[in-house]
Amino acid sequence: MAASGLVPSNRPGDGTVAILGAGSLGRLWAGYLPAGTALFVPRTDSPDQSRYPVSYQLLCPDDTERPVTVAWFDPACQLPDLLLVTTKAQDTLAALETVMPMLPEHTPVVLFQNGMGSQQAVAARWPDRPVLAASTTEGANRPAADITVHAGRGQTWLGALTASANPVITKVTETLASTGLEVIPTAAILQRLWDKLIINAGINPFTALLDCPNGDLLTAPLFLEHIDALCREISQLLEAEKLPTASPQALRQRIEQVATATASNTSSMRADVQHGRATEIDYINGFMVSRGARLGLPMPVNQMLTEQVKQLSTNYGR
Ligand SMILES: NC(=O)c1ccc[n+]([C@@H]2O[C@H](COP(=O)([O-])OP(=O)(O)OC[C@H]3O[C@@H](n4cnc5c(N)ncnc54)[C@H](OP(=O)(O)O)[C@@H]3O)[C@@H](O)[C@H]2O)c1
Repeated sequence: MAASGLVPSNRPGDGTVAILGAGSLGRLWAGYLPAGTALFVPRTDSPDQSRYPVSYQLLCPDDTERPVTVAWFDPACQLPDLLLVTTKAQDTLAALETVMPMLPEHTPVVLFQNGMGSQQAVAARWPDRPVLAASTTEGANRPAADITVHAGRGQTWLGALTASANPVITKVTETLASTGLEVIPTAAILQRLWDKLIINAGINPFTALLDCPNGDLLTAPLFLEHIDALCREISQLLEAEKLPTASPQALRQRIEQVATATASNTSSMRADVQHGRATEIDYINGFMVSRGARLGLPMPVNQMLTEQVKQLSTNYGR
């Protein structure tokens, strides 16, 4: 038996994939996995949730639609091969506390959260479990309860966060690639997460504060006033973290290139504020502030952006 005493620890999985977080990204992966293999993990705080399977239409980038029905995970009957975690960063640790005891200790866990900090917290909490992180440029949103839009095809990089995840990367990659989505194993997942963090830190808070699509940033006074100082802070942080460094100018160029290439997109942070949901600011600019504090580096622009986005959320009633 596993440490929890609830589940056998060495039986192979039954070919199912459990998904914790039945939101946009969870529904995207569920919709592309082979029919019948995806299972959503019910919220333990919502006992009625699992009464009926989840049904929705997945609208694909090639303009096709697929009807999807996903059953709920029942630990008494199923032994998944894999757990995908598609909760928001701030919900992840608490959500996993309720789910981990239901899974054998060898079941790989793949974290899809944006930003940084939640992945490290999960790996530190369960250092002996195979924990992986994914960084994806797939985009999904839910304009209505029964519709999930796959907004654009991207790529998903996958890498180990704990030692016991290394031997399972190939198998996990194969399982995720059975969706037809592009999945690439990497030994440099932390670098991938940092690269995305930098872009998110330079785009998301400004779009949330200005309530504008990504491309409109480039001429906005708030962005123009702060972007160089923000990039200086990030550049110094990379150096202090002993990560591959980049000059503030190069960072600004990267951020502006992405804002231009995604000009009409609404960032997840802007969407969260618009819909009255909590944002992931603590795991993006807030993460940089806390890393800076540990390293003795002041991060006033990251701090200001974090505080202002939080203030915005408070104004929207959270
Ligand atoms: N969407 C994308 O295109 C995309 C792309 C790249 C990365 N990501 C990252 O992926 C993560 C998820 O994003 P998302 O857009 O899919 O968010 P989302 O639509 O808000 O989905 C999160 C889901 O997690 C559920 N959840 C929260 N706590 C839970 C718990 N304790 N037990 C079970 N379920 C729980 C939520 O349920 P309720 O609705 O009931 O609260 C919600 O359905 C974020 O970190 C995001 O940054 C998303």
